[in-house]
Amino acid sequence: MNILLLSGSPSNPSRSTRLLHHVGDRLNELGYRTARVQARDLPAQALLHADFNNDELRAAKALVAQADAVVVSTPVYKAAYSGVLKTFLDILPQDGLSGKLVLPLATGGSQSHMLALDYALRPVLASLAAKHILPSIYATDAQIEWSEEYGLNIDTTIAQRITEGISHLTHSLIALRNQGNNFDAVQFTQLRCSA
Ligand SMILES: Cc1cc2nc3c(=O)[nH]c(=O)nc-3n(C[C@H](O)[C@H](O)[C@H](O)COP(=O)(O)O)c2cc1C
Repeated sequence: MNILLLSGSPSNPSRSTRLLHHVGDRLNELGYRTARVQARDLPAQALLHADFNNDELRAAKALVAQADAVVVSTPVYKAAYSGVLKTFLDILPQDGLSGKLVLPLATGGSQSHMLALDYALRPVLASLAAKHILPSIYATDAQIEWSEEYGLNIDTTIAQRITEGISHLTHSLIALRNQGNNFDAVQFTQLRCSA
């Protein structure tokens, strides 16, 4: 099964992208194929002009179409998700996430906006017809450290949430493959963000 890692940070280096690729590495270790799209690497003018026929945007959209699941990451910008991520989501077809599982990740400067994924991004993913949006994972900058010497250092609480999120995603993928349309959605009461 194919998993797309969609990065929504305009920055490089990027904490949220590092977290995303950490999740991708874990999925690779479990034998899943992953592909990457970084919204910041797509042609800016084509994104801003919503140029649906641009070749690079079409190639990125094809990776979305081929994916069984999308892990999407974003920094919190002004209490919501990033603008560059929105420009990419805007050029997807209205049902562009139909049949797909989505795991949202975000990093933010503080815990104040830890619900941004749920009140801002989740409705957009739902409007794109995502089959199942897994509980989001949110980390503050202090919980994600990176150094040349030691690489990525993730707070134990977030590391645990990532392990749970990956387990939830992989079990959901198996359920999706085995049950098709009888896939059970997660109840709203089971949704939770973490920091
Ligand atoms: C323009 C801008 C707006 C931001 N707005 C918020 C915000 O509203 N709430 C918050 O918690 N952090 C905010 N931050 C901090 C970033 O979300 C945080 O540093 C994040 O980890 C950056 O992720 P990145 O390195 O992947 O881009 C903002 C940062 C920038 C540059």
